[in-house]
Amino acid sequence: MTYSDKALIKEKVNSLLSKMTLNEKIGQLYQAPYFSDIVTGHSFDSSQTIKRIKGGMVGSILSVHDEDVIRKLQKTAVEESRLGIPLLFAFDVIHGYKTSFPINLALSNTWDETLVKKIAKAIAYETSHRGLHLTFSPMLDLVRDPRWGRVMESNGEDPYLSSILGKAYIEGYQQNDLSNSDSVAACAKHFIGYGHVEAGREYNTVDISKRVLYNMYLPQFKTAINANVSMIMTSFNTVFDVPATANKTLLKDILRDELKFKGVTISDYTSTEEIINHKIADDLKDVAKQCFNAGLDHEMVSESYIQHLNELVQEKTVSENDINESVKRMLSLKYELGLFDKPYAYLYENSNQYLLNESTVKLAREAAEKSIVMLKNDQILPISKDKKIVLCGPYVDSKDVIGEWAALCKKDDVTSIKEAFINSNYSNMNDETKDNVKNADIILMALGEPGSHAGEGNSKANIYLDKTQKEYFDSIRKINPNIVLIVFAGRPLIISHYHQYAKAILYAYQPGMETGNAIYNLVTGKVSPSAKLTMTLPYHEGQIPIYYNHYNTGRPYDEKRPKYRYNTRYIDCPNEPLYPFGYGLSYGNIKYLDFEIDKQIFKKYDKLSIKVTVENDNQYAVDEIVQCYIEAITYSVSRPVNELKSFKRVTFKPFEKKIIEFELSIEDFRAFNLNMEWTAEHRKYKVKVGPNSRDLISKKIEVVDEVS
Ligand code: GLC
Repeated sequence: MTYSDKALIKEKVNSLLSKMTLNEKIGQLYQAPYFSDIVTGHSFDSSQTIKRIKGGMVGSILSVHDEDVIRKLQKTAVEESRLGIPLLFAFDVIHGYKTSFPINLALSNTWDETLVKKIAKAIAYETSHRGLHLTFSPMLDLVRDPRWGRVMESNGEDPYLSSILGKAYIEGYQQNDLSNSDSVAACAKHFIGYGHVEAGREYNTVDISKRVLYNMYLPQFKTAINANVSMIMTSFNTVFDVPATANKTLLKDILRDELKFKGVTISDYTSTEEIINHKIADDLKDVAKQCFNAGLDHEMVSESYIQHLNELVQEKTVSENDINESVKRMLSLKYELGLFDKPYAYLYENSNQYLLNESTVKLAREAAEKSIVMLKNDQILPISKDKKIVLCGPYVDSKDVIGEWAALCKKDDVTSIKEAFINSNYSNMNDETKDNVKNADIILMALGEPGSHAGEGNSKANIYLDKTQKEYFDSIRKINPNIVLIVFAGRPLIISHYHQYAKAILYAYQPGMETGNAIYNLVTGKVSPSAKLTMTLPYHEGQIPIYYNHYNTGRPYDEKRPKYRYNTRYIDCPNEPLYPFGYGLSYGNIKYLDFEIDKQIFKKYDKLSIKVTVENDNQYAVDEIVQCYIEAITYSVSRPVNELKSFKRVTFKPFEKKIIEFELSIEDFRAFNLNMEWTAEHRKYKVKVGPNSRDLISKKIEVVDEVS
């Protein structure tokens, strides 16, 4: 959108605002539900919504995706309300509208922002051709606790990677013009710290320090704001003991004053009135006063604004000027979406033609292939056509692999593993009889957790595969140990037992509709696995929270003295996870050879060139995600033992050697120091490169940075 467009929009918004009554202004700050089936805890009657639309008392609609209903409600707003202000329709389309892509945590395993941007664009295309204007995505919560069901929606445990991928989603959804019919507005969520819920228990207390907030949680939203995200959604939890939805420090001081966010802030579902449960408000009037004065523009589902803001303005406890600013942000978004000129623009005749098209399904297969992590391979994969195989396990013909928050994606559209093998006329595939199992060269077994076990409201204390599946696995392995195990889950599960016995493990998460075709292509070697974990896979649930960018502590574990009592350790479990952040195998034989940096003293305006020679020493063509980390050897506060600062997905031909170059700036060494200054401090640091966060080679460097 050009500057002149912005000026024109500002003029139109101001002109419209001057005609609006106070109630009509307040109406723009209300997101109404329509169907009662998506309601958590509240019953309401949708005819209320129609009446309110006619009265100009609704700004946007939540989770309506039936095109006839969208058209009906929009027609009511445009033709029957006094000013005809169009409605904005919003829906959670986070990893597919009708074409189901892998869940977001799986997509983050691709470490491929170009691919994620393409996927977001494809999702926006389907979504915007079905009457919808905004998606509640990307979810930017940092996650360290697989008991929390919503890890499935996230980009993993690292702020840098989550920032890069969050930007890719936003650019893919919004492209460079919200008014074109292939884009939708994006809403970054949840602001902020929701992934830090204690014990991984949904909606539980969050307690983070200011420095953890600034160093680990804010970078993703800063990047999202710089990528012009249209909306930011507050989270259910408290931050510094104040609910995010009524938190002035977050919504005004940080979001508006520090990060210069110009878009709309929206609550989460009834998170405004839930500040009563948080015990900081007495009633809905108090809710409206606290949330609005803290800086919340738009209220989702709850009715504190439409019921009480008017009287609060009359009482002068809320200023009409502030109301005007929030309304301007909402109206500007609607103008940018082109809704005033073309309120029905996103509604098409026989719109099914825009769904599930060939290129989108092909993209979903590529995404699945690149998001499935090969954790182990004892020279059993890829399977050659002459091998006798048996497909088995409860998920080998399951379609329950699209995950939660699946919008209009259907399990029926999934190609299962078994179907993919049948469709590919894999001749050497045998039924699961005792003899076939005994005589097979390879057992391809698929286990998993149901899709309904992750997502919102689905935290789990027990994150093992269920007992039946463990017994099944053990019964088969005692007949034939040559098991290739495929795991479907919405989160990292505890799979240490399987790691011990399976000859290969593919951690598939929930890969979406192309599950079977992707698995087939990977296990037969048509495509090499390339994905790498973005969330640590624990050895034992007792280690949780466990993540790569942890502090060293005062008594770091000493692997040379594993039994020494007085170091940070457990007496009954290793400190190390089963598989670390950044870990994943391919069919290549990747070696990290020479590694050099171009300077020993690195100053504020310098660029640091890092070159690492990487070789693929076998006959497979593979992608390798080369990672670059830093470590502050000392700093005025403790900093993590490793911090991801760059990565590159590199394609290798068979037996190819390449020099991979990274370029770091002073910004990559900075953090908030003891005085909360954003600086690198004049210290010694390490620069590290490698295939994951554990197996790194490093060089020391001196960094000089005046306080920024
Ligand atoms: C839910 C979720 C949020 C979602 C919103 C609208 O409770 O917390 O992520 O976007 O409500 O469905």
